[in-house]
Amino acid sequence: MSFTGRVAIITGAASGMGLLSAQELAKAGAKVLLTDVDAEAVEAAAAGIRKDGGEALGLQVDVRKYDEVKRAADMALQKFGRIDILLNFAGGAETRVCNCHKPFHELPVDVIDWGLDVNLKGAVYFCHAVMGAMIKQKSGVMINLGSVTGVEGSAGAVNYSAAKSGIIGLTKSLALCGAPHGVRACCVSPGPVLTRPGMANMKTRLGRAAEPKEVVDLILYLCSDKAAFITGSNYMIDGGRTCGGMD
Ligand SMILES: NC(=O)c1ccc[n+]([C@@H]2O[C@H](COP(=O)([O-])OP(=O)(O)OC[C@H]3O[C@@H](n4cnc5c(N)ncnc54)[C@H](O)[C@@H]3O)[C@@H](O)[C@H]2O)c1
Repeated sequence: MSFTGRVAIITGAASGMGLLSAQELAKAGAKVLLTDVDAEAVEAAAAGIRKDGGEALGLQVDVRKYDEVKRAADMALQKFGRIDILLNFAGGAETRVCNCHKPFHELPVDVIDWGLDVNLKGAVYFCHAVMGAMIKQKSGVMINLGSVTGVEGSAGAVNYSAAKSGIIGLTKSLALCGAPHGVRACCVSPGPVLTRPGMANMKTRLGRAAEPKEVVDLILYLCSDKAAFITGSNYMIDGGRTCGGMD
């Protein structure tokens, strides 16, 4: 798949699937703006892509802050001239990221807020900030990262689960808003992905976790012209976990 001439913004691009997507898109010819709350890591990630011959910029963005999100959209337009692809990767389970493994009813409010704000509001903010440019171009695609947890629920990450369910509704609504203007939106909901060794412990019907590249391949397909008739859908990529009957 070629993405020559396309411009992509990626959130949570300093590590994991966000970083890999940025690298793969750049390899396929896209100009990429990597954003992440971790300033040093996102700059290093962009520099790595440039070193390999790709066109990449890094920008520190906390997805919870609309002014920073807007600055990223403005920067993509100013430096690269358009916005074709938005990949919303920034996220994670609040109990893990905030290292607060308490029952839901004992979680401090700042942990609840982290779960909802990074995983849902950040994606809403970014979609809002880029959609005007996409409508003007009469093309564009937004990919939002859900999770099996948004479909199954989770006692250990209640806010993450609520946010990831919300991502599915957000995606459907954006698909409805965007369709008359040639703008698509899709949700990708992975099961366990080996961006961390611990994910190998989560069961799937196929008896393993996904390699990050397997999820990124699906995302690149959904961003490509081959997927021009796909919008509003949520893709489970979970080794059959949500077929039911798993512990
Ligand atoms: N890894 C899995 O097993 C798995 C499964 C299902 C869904 N997902 C989802 O896929 C996405 C990527 O997962 P991953 O494992 O590749 O992620 P990761 O943990 O490797 O990377 C997440 C990135 O988000 C960044 N981030 C955190 N807070 C931020 C903020 N406020 N603003 C901007 N950036 C912020 C982090 O710095 C980090 O670079 C997440 O949304 C995650 O919920 C992952």
